[in-house]
Amino acid sequence: MTVLGIETSCDETAASVVARDEDGRARILSDIVLSQTTEHAAFGGVVPEIAARAHVEALDGVVEAALNDAGLSLDQVDAVAVSAGPGLAGGLLVGLMTAKALAAVAAVPLLPLNHLEGHALTARLTDNVAFPFLLLLVSGGHTQILAVHALGRYERYASTIDDAAGEAFDKVAKLLGLPYPGGPSVEKAATSGDPARFPFPRPLKGEKRPDFSFSGLKTAVRQAAEKAQPLSEQDIADLGASFQAAVADALADRVSRALERFRNAYPDLGEPVLVVAGGVAANETLRGTLTDLCATHHFRFLAPPLRLCGDNAAMIAWAGAERLAAGMLVEDAASFAPRTRW
Ligand code: KG4
Ligand code: ZN
Repeated sequence: MTVLGIETSCDETAASVVARDEDGRARILSDIVLSQTTEHAAFGGVVPEIAARAHVEALDGVVEAALNDAGLSLDQVDAVAVSAGPGLAGGLLVGLMTAKALAAVAAVPLLPLNHLEGHALTARLTDNVAFPFLLLLVSGGHTQILAVHALGRYERYASTIDDAAGEAFDKVAKLLGLPYPGGPSVEKAATSGDPARFPFPRPLKGEKRPDFSFSGLKTAVRQAAEKAQPLSEQDIADLGASFQAAVADALADRVSRALERFRNAYPDLGEPVLVVAGGVAANETLRGTLTDLCATHHFRFLAPPLRLCGDNAAMIAWAGAERLAAGMLVEDAASFAPRTRW
């Protein structure tokens, strides 16, 4: 079966066609991601109004390109899947309305999906990973650890009580005068920095509660930056490196608890899997820390290709294909409304 996927929940306008064979193997037939980074760069972050308008302008062309690349016409797809939340209201509405129209015209099922399910199932799209597995999702909007038990059965082990990890990178970049998006620019600046110069806090390290927190760390970076004014290039590099090390360390501490909990839930799994996804998964320091952590805990560590870690529509098409294959359709999908905080 082939599914057309649409993703407009934040600042990427994306469409993709993914095929699933009878053995549950995936083939990405097309994967178009149009990033709005340049539209938002001048404002130092995503502006919802600008995002919604950019989706309206771009989506039809992006869908057309995805079908063309796949060599298919609309009436050859078996379903249309779309991110219906969580995300920005305007963008979600654009995606959902477009998907409803396409599904109606093609007379195929419409699958309104949770965007996070797309991230959660990416490792099955890329590596055919079997259920259950553990997922660390770290993006600009989300920081969560999920036990992925089965299709549609997700258990949240931890989530953030304030900022998302990527959001912290973006805010720290801003206060260090580095360009948006912040994650890549902080990582770049940090390559020539000393991660031990500023002993930033590791929020909640050692605590039992299943939470992440990054706003205190961000404040600590701001105070250190204010003290060191005027900032030299070396100061910026050291602040970036010290911040990045603190994030990786704090994340690893939370993940190590989750690894234990997951192992207790599935004592018979030979080598359980930890998957990392979301834009922050691109960070080399974080990847290195998680690789070491998994080696110590005898977990297999899996990071999907960077292109599929960030927001994309292939993960939505694939989640749709999994649901369609399992017969998990939503009743009256045509009247499904966006769920911004789903
Ligand atoms: O998953 P994503 O593309 O979009 C969503 O937020 O859903 O993630 C974007 C986030 C941004 O906050 C960006 O700064 C962060 O991922 N990011 C990184 C890196 N690349 C992107 N953070 C740290 N290091 C990176 N190399
Ligand atoms: Zn996302």
